[in-house]
Amino acid sequence: MIKIDISEHQTRRANLLSLMDHNSVCVVGSASAQTRSNDTDYCFRQDSYFWYLTGFDEPDATLILIKYADGQTHVFMSLLPKDEQAEIWHGRRLGAQAAIAKLALDNAFDNSQLEDQLANILSNKQTVYSLYIQTSVKKLIDQTIMNLKRVPKQGLLAPSQHIDIQSQLDEARLVKSTTEIAIMQAVADISAQAHCQAMQLCKPTLNEYHLEAEIQYVFARNGARHPAYTSIVGGGDNACILHYTQNNQVLQDGDLVLIDAGGELEGYAADITRTFPVNGRFSRPQASVYQIVLDAQLAALELLKPGALLPEVTQVVVEIITQGLLDLGILTGELHDNIERLTYRHYFMHGLGHYLGLDVHDVGEYKVDGAPRPLSPGMVLTVEPGIYIAPGSDCPEIYHGIGVRIEDDIVITETSNHVLTHQVPKTIAEIEALMRAGV
Ligand code: GLY
Ligand code: MN
Ligand code: MN
Repeated sequence: MIKIDISEHQTRRANLLSLMDHNSVCVVGSASAQTRSNDTDYCFRQDSYFWYLTGFDEPDATLILIKYADGQTHVFMSLLPKDEQAEIWHGRRLGAQAAIAKLALDNAFDNSQLEDQLANILSNKQTVYSLYIQTSVKKLIDQTIMNLKRVPKQGLLAPSQHIDIQSQLDEARLVKSTTEIAIMQAVADISAQAHCQAMQLCKPTLNEYHLEAEIQYVFARNGARHPAYTSIVGGGDNACILHYTQNNQVLQDGDLVLIDAGGELEGYAADITRTFPVNGRFSRPQASVYQIVLDAQLAALELLKPGALLPEVTQVVVEIITQGLLDLGILTGELHDNIERLTYRHYFMHGLGHYLGLDVHDVGEYKVDGAPRPLSPGMVLTVEPGIYIAPGSDCPEIYHGIGVRIEDDIVITETSNHVLTHQVPKTIAEIEALMRAGV
């Protein structure tokens, strides 16, 4: 299985250190266990920033990067102590001693020393950086600075500024390395296989949760033990609820079913949506709506390449969808008037896509200096137009309850893009053929 090598974590930390002022410190915290009920926790998921910088998957650890006045750097970590009883009950801990070599650190210490060590490290430094969204780390730093100011012992000075480092880390995470793209290809392949199997399994009378179970089975048995987000399996009208996750209704003959599901591998997400007929054959109204979404998605894929601007590509998609809705009589009137009045938003109410990486809605700015950001090689994003015609919509009834989204994951290459999720069919003919083969 592909993993991010420790040397890549070192490079990431070196990049961050290069952005820091001389005589400064940066503190990044891990995630902590989250209670699910009473004394049971949710399955642990590491903080994406901490994981990006360390590849260390334990809770309650703190990474400390130091850049001295002369430019020398040191990387420290505070972590849970070795503890025989705790490890028998809750699992192995790396411990400070082993962490130094395993994580390529300059030093490591037990959490019991964190407050004192931090006070030492912060004293006489000019600047401290943290992620303000990590509120407990921010609080600890602010408290340490306050203590240093209150007791100006032996002339030690507290840092004079505390700066949020999030935008710098987001920028670093936005463009993926070769290894990251290889992992994202692997999780895309697993997720594609899961979607194919769900299509082949599907038939009327099954419940939405049967398809969800099949998807999760394929993820898990291929090493992506957890979905990157709660899977959406919406039959019929449920496809028109964008974040439907109840997944507990019987799939009806004649309905479509929309599945939005992606696995997580080594922390990296896939995010795929396919929409297909429960009985394996698109009805004419379903096919008409589906084809508009597919045409819009294929047009977007043609345009997404280095230098492309997402709002411009979105505009092309909006035109195709609006024209399609006009052709079917779902909208009425003139194309540009409808676009201007945003009437299509009744049926296509979300964005074209988003960055994808360690978070399913991954970090990174969509605008730079107020202007749309041109795409560049190594960015990974989703392309996910949709049309959702909820029951009761102001349009011919034959279209009511049809919800369609087609979502692929792409990486921007030097000249165009590569569709990571190309292994799941999406034309009407391909989907019907695969579903026939599955019966
Ligand atoms: N699965 C979440 C999304 O498509 O954005
Ligand atoms: Mn999705
Ligand atoms: Mn998405």
